[in-house]
Amino acid sequence: MIDPASVKNNRRKFLQYLAASPVLAMSAREALANTAFELQTRPDDPYIWKPYDPNYIVEKPQDALDIFELEAVAHKNIPGAHWGYMSTGADGEVSYRANRQDQNKFVIRSRRLIDVRAADSSREMFGHKYDMPFFLCPVGRLTTYHAEAETGASRAAGRHNIAQGLATNTTIPTEQANKLRDKAGPVMFQLYQQANWEITKLIVQRAERSGCRAMLVTVDGTGNRKLSSLERQRRDDTRLCVTCHAVSKTNPKQTLRNPGGMAMFSEVPAALWEDNGARDAVTAEVSRDTLTWEFIKRLRDITKMEIFIKGIMDVEDALLCVKYGYGIHISNHGGRNEDTGGSTIASLADIAPAVKGRVPIFVDGGFYRGFDIVKALAMGATMVGFGRPYLWGLGAFGEAGVDRVIQIVKAEFNAALRQVGATSLKDLNPRMIHKAL
Ligand SMILES: Cc1cc2nc3c(=O)[nH]c(=O)nc-3n(C[C@H](O)[C@H](O)[C@H](O)COP(=O)(O)O)c2cc1C
Repeated sequence: MIDPASVKNNRRKFLQYLAASPVLAMSAREALANTAFELQTRPDDPYIWKPYDPNYIVEKPQDALDIFELEAVAHKNIPGAHWGYMSTGADGEVSYRANRQDQNKFVIRSRRLIDVRAADSSREMFGHKYDMPFFLCPVGRLTTYHAEAETGASRAAGRHNIAQGLATNTTIPTEQANKLRDKAGPVMFQLYQQANWEITKLIVQRAERSGCRAMLVTVDGTGNRKLSSLERQRRDDTRLCVTCHAVSKTNPKQTLRNPGGMAMFSEVPAALWEDNGARDAVTAEVSRDTLTWEFIKRLRDITKMEIFIKGIMDVEDALLCVKYGYGIHISNHGGRNEDTGGSTIASLADIAPAVKGRVPIFVDGGFYRGFDIVKALAMGATMVGFGRPYLWGLGAFGEAGVDRVIQIVKAEFNAALRQVGATSLKDLNPRMIHKAL
């Protein structure tokens, strides 16, 4: 690859050499002057005039141009260790970065001369027509980022009629979230398998009773992860977690400041926890390392909710989902659990052609702009999730910030859909996607 900066340097050296020559002195001096002018007025990168400033703080949600401007505000507001937990990836964070960087490896070739005035962005799933083909990913304990937490996120997603995943470790139960979402349809319940089967069964059936029609079973946390960047950021925020969050007999009021995340467990009889060698949901074990396809079958037998396997990265696993009739949720947990460097968009490129539309495919991880979502759908995804971006909105301005994130992505998606020449999601197809040169 030719580096434009070195071309410019060589040209300048050559002109300096000419300027030193008595024969060509006048013309070379002029040329040098011209070059200096050109350098001043025509920079290589137009962003040099107003580059993205990670320290720029918008004062109101409406002032944010894109979701990244909300990240800076959230960074300012959220306590260091909480920020670290949100923003970290696993180990060297190669997967985390790859999710975003690999967006550039796939490009869209737009179609022209198509009347797109009435372009339709809606997506039907689970008997509901959503306004958009994207959703808020399940994220545990949203109180960590703002007091409006799951309540604010559910209201904002409901207002915009978009889908939403609600984590096992949610601070409001599915009944409440579904009510807040109102006409936007119920949440998709995300399941973390509990060590005790009866507890697992209880929360799954509770979600279904409350109206949920889909369950995202997260299967990508089988090892012990190392959240390096969190640990580094903790060095700057040395407060002990227990000073804010511990629930103890001597200080029961501390629960007020507990990040919560136990709402789905409130109906679990104490005896079940004891049976499980735990006091409550906080001290209970999530036993992800024992997850197998047999366990998913066990779930299949106790619920009619549609099951999506969240954490699929490999074609063989995707084909097993097809075989057993489960939806596929391509995800590497936002690069938080494994660090092999594989991006979710690259997995989507392998998986979608093999699946051939036989089961729906969700994908998340680094899809942060309208064009990213258009690209994913053209490659074969049914819906696209985003995690950190709505946490930035939440941390920045609470519910109003989540609302702004959805507004921004909605507007970007609507524009992108028309820009590529699509009149509906059906027009997006793999022929539009090319590997970047
Ligand atoms: C702070 C944080 C907490 C998360 N908690 C959960 C969780 O409880 N359950 C789950 O299935 N995924 C969880 N995820 C993963 C998200 O559902 C999603 O897969 C990921 O955030 C997508 O990547 P993105 O942040 O780049 O959009 C969490 C992600 C973050 C950033």
